[in-house]
Amino acid sequence: MCGIVGYVGHRQALDVVVEALRRMEYRGYDSAGIAVLDGAGGVAIERKAGRLANLEAELAETGTERFVGTTGMGHTRWATHGRPTDRNAHPHRDSEGKVAVVHNGIIENFAPLRAELENDGIEFASDTDTEVAVHLVSRAYTSGDTAGDFVESARKVIRRLEGAFTLVFTHADHPDTIVAARRSTPLVIGVGEGETFLGSDVAAFIEHTRDAVELGQDQVVVITADGYTVTDFDGNEDVPTRPFRIDWDLAAAEKGGHDYFMLKEIEEQPAAVADTLLGHFDAGRIVLDEQRLSDQELRDVDKVFVVACGSAYHSGLLAKYAIEHWTRLPVEVELASEFRYRDPVLDRSTLVVAISQSGETADTLEAVRHAKDQKARVLAVCNTNGSQIPREADAVLYTRAGPEIGVASTKAFLAQVTANYLVGLALAQARGTKYPDEVAREYRDLEAMPELVARVLQTVEPVRALARELAHSPTVLFLGRHVGYPVALEGALKLKELAYIHAEGFAAGELKHGPIALIEEGLPVIVVMPSPKGRAVLHSKLVSNIQEIKARGARTIVIAEEGDEAVRAHADHLIEIPAAPSLLQPLLSTVPLQVFAAEVAQTRGYDVDKPRNLAKSVTVE
Ligand code: F6R
Repeated sequence: MCGIVGYVGHRQALDVVVEALRRMEYRGYDSAGIAVLDGAGGVAIERKAGRLANLEAELAETGTERFVGTTGMGHTRWATHGRPTDRNAHPHRDSEGKVAVVHNGIIENFAPLRAELENDGIEFASDTDTEVAVHLVSRAYTSGDTAGDFVESARKVIRRLEGAFTLVFTHADHPDTIVAARRSTPLVIGVGEGETFLGSDVAAFIEHTRDAVELGQDQVVVITADGYTVTDFDGNEDVPTRPFRIDWDLAAAEKGGHDYFMLKEIEEQPAAVADTLLGHFDAGRIVLDEQRLSDQELRDVDKVFVVACGSAYHSGLLAKYAIEHWTRLPVEVELASEFRYRDPVLDRSTLVVAISQSGETADTLEAVRHAKDQKARVLAVCNTNGSQIPREADAVLYTRAGPEIGVASTKAFLAQVTANYLVGLALAQARGTKYPDEVAREYRDLEAMPELVARVLQTVEPVRALARELAHSPTVLFLGRHVGYPVALEGALKLKELAYIHAEGFAAGELKHGPIALIEEGLPVIVVMPSPKGRAVLHSKLVSNIQEIKARGARTIVIAEEGDEAVRAHADHLIEIPAAPSLLQPLLSTVPLQVFAAEVAQTRGYDVDKPRNLAKSVTVE
């Protein structure tokens, strides 16, 4: 949350920064702002509440003559401290207007620091936690042992800050230099020819360079047009960084002809599943090559915890069904935000699987830290190379969904489900709870899924038509049993977050314990059916549940396996999906629900890539 960009080079910074902000906007869109240094002791700043388009309109109206210079930075905000107003938009500057800052994260000790500065007579121009940083740097630059030294002034201040932050500072009297620091929130360097970039992720500069450097925890980077220097917060240069080559192309971060990234990402799901599987089955064995857990360590596991948030949590709920079934290990799935406050029972033979698309989610990160404190082994399932969660975990299995820009998770979710299943199969293989040929068969079933997902995508047009018809329903309920239950939860979450419709997912068996009271004439209820062959008992129970709600007036929309004749008579609308092994069916049944939610949102005139109040990665608890 919050997107950050920085640039020192030979081009006009305004153009580079605005373009980079466009790609960072998915990280927050409460406000946007830029700063450009003119090279002669001046800095031009513009910032505006709302989307980047507001800032661009302001620039178009007031003119861009002020923004001449080749050093600049920008910010898209997801508000934490202070309402999303112009006044709270970044960049913030000091009282002399020389130092400017943009920030992602939270400065937890901002209150005493603000009191200290106010005691010194500093007047604050915003309600943010960020502003303390800029005044502190200004004070360090004008007095004391760091006077006149911009880089040292910044380091001195950073050492005083608590919390999670990426901070980027400019000083109008040092127009060739940008200083930035990171702790627990992301920052990458882009290395070009005579130009250097900073970004919250590589999308900020992928148009200009593919050479990137990942920063470590608690590091400071100083960039100039000629390159960069990285130190720790004390200025020591002997610190680890990771140069890497960006292997996805610009088109992957563009909409590819779709109105929204999310629609493109839904289409990319067959590839996301296939790529996540790629290279993980070799010589008849599951290979989790990025992981650093030995077979012995997997054999020693006596309990699995899955921690995650939101859609990632739903993928974890699905993992429970598969891992318990394949390995006979007990699996607990817990919301990361609850996990560490509950004193869960963990020890060195517990495997904690932390699932996160972004690898930045604060709750999941803290759950990882808590698990490690308790000596548990942590395996991250993550979509973002080199992000904080995999760094801190003992091992990582990357989902290879590619960049997910739409705020609502789609292809990353399917990739998570796939990766979780690989973890389950690796455990079963190491522990011998499945024979090698059984593991191989399960893997082959997984391998067949991308084609089936593609088939679902070819047949979703009627789902769109139905979505348009139901777009103004005040409530939609979702029901499922077994693995259909997490799918129901995921379908409801998608509809809530994209279309702002009240939606709830229930385990169908719970209906008669309360939720059935909600059923009234015309209420749309989406039911995820299990296979009539694979899960015959559950299937017939769910057919009964459908009859019960239909009798009370519900309008039933049923997702069922092709050829499921038994349910047809009870479905007001039937959405057919190809037959698949029971545990893998969620990779198919989720897809029409994503399409449904996106279409409802579009019909209601909402921006499906940027649902209100949300941000792509939630780096605060
Ligand atoms: C919902 C959605 C969120 C995320 C959740 C976790 O569509 O995208 O619920 O799944 O915020 O995010 P990550 O996976 O980045 O930890």
